[in-house]
Amino acid sequence: MKIALTGIKPTGTLHIGNYFGAIKPALLLAERYDARYFIADFHALNTVKDAAKLREAVRGIAAGWLASGLDPERVIFYRQSGVPETFELATMLAAFTPKGLMNRAHAYKAAVQQNLEKGEDGDAGINMGLFTYPVLMAADILLFDADFVPVGRDQTQHIEMAQDIAGAVNYNYKKDLLKIPQAAVQENTAVVPGLDGRKMSKSYGNTIPLFSTESELRKLIMRIVTNSQGVDEPKDPDSSRIFDLYRLFADEGEQAALAARYRAGGMGWGEAKEELFRVVNFRLSPLRERYNALIAEPEKLESILALGAEKARSIASRTVKRLRSAMGIDA
Ligand code: TRP
Repeated sequence: MKIALTGIKPTGTLHIGNYFGAIKPALLLAERYDARYFIADFHALNTVKDAAKLREAVRGIAAGWLASGLDPERVIFYRQSGVPETFELATMLAAFTPKGLMNRAHAYKAAVQQNLEKGEDGDAGINMGLFTYPVLMAADILLFDADFVPVGRDQTQHIEMAQDIAGAVNYNYKKDLLKIPQAAVQENTAVVPGLDGRKMSKSYGNTIPLFSTESELRKLIMRIVTNSQGVDEPKDPDSSRIFDLYRLFADEGEQAALAARYRAGGMGWGEAKEELFRVVNFRLSPLRERYNALIAEPEKLESILALGAEKARSIASRTVKRLRSAMGIDA
């Protein structure tokens, strides 16, 4: 079986957009691939400097993916920090990474640009973790001989850099020491509209958390922005953000029935939102229950991640050994 690997940066609360855009596609992929999914806590350290926040974010991601159906028997699921071989490989890769390649990384360039626009020094507030981010990410990937890396479009440059770095190592030692990974960009995942109608995204502040309480969920759904059509007016489900969300959660029969009510008129947006709340809450409550149970038992969560790390390390240590020996860095 081919190997799929991806990293999840723990920098916020999981929301419905994450579920449909990342979690669900990754879980589907895990049915056809040997999947290795990890929480990129050292990547998060570049921006999250509050220990309690980072710890909470990591547990939130772990519990969230498990509650969403990730089976740790089937997917190797671990914390990046639980696999210290990652950092040894990153150091090795750094010796093969041209500084100029890092200068061209979009995230770094954008940070410099922002500084310059504010009239500040280009490097203001930029740490080496951000600058060498692509090297660490290449290590994450190359350590596990990944064939495919499911990522969002914004991450494709990082995968190309991992390819370049792996190629440089292989070329130098005239040997296929590292597998060249391919990006697997999810093109056809549903766009999940946020509360204001724009794409649901943490940076827009328009998200619906995946594990909100029932009453929070209801409040948020009632806050979705609608047009001023009155109750009696027929409504077009195909141009309604509320219906777009409904479609993600409802089965086909429910969708057809509610679409007919939209078109018939007589149903106001308030009622449309009630229907949306009903189906979202129905589909999310089992996940929420599992999530709350996992969060309440951090030792259990930790032991799942520790078991994953153990499996991951047995693969990772072989990769590092292979490279050490090729490089002349023998124990
Ligand atoms: N950079 C990715 C992001 O911001 C997270 C990540 C870290 C990752 N290491 C990875 C993704 C390795 C894929 C493979 O989302």
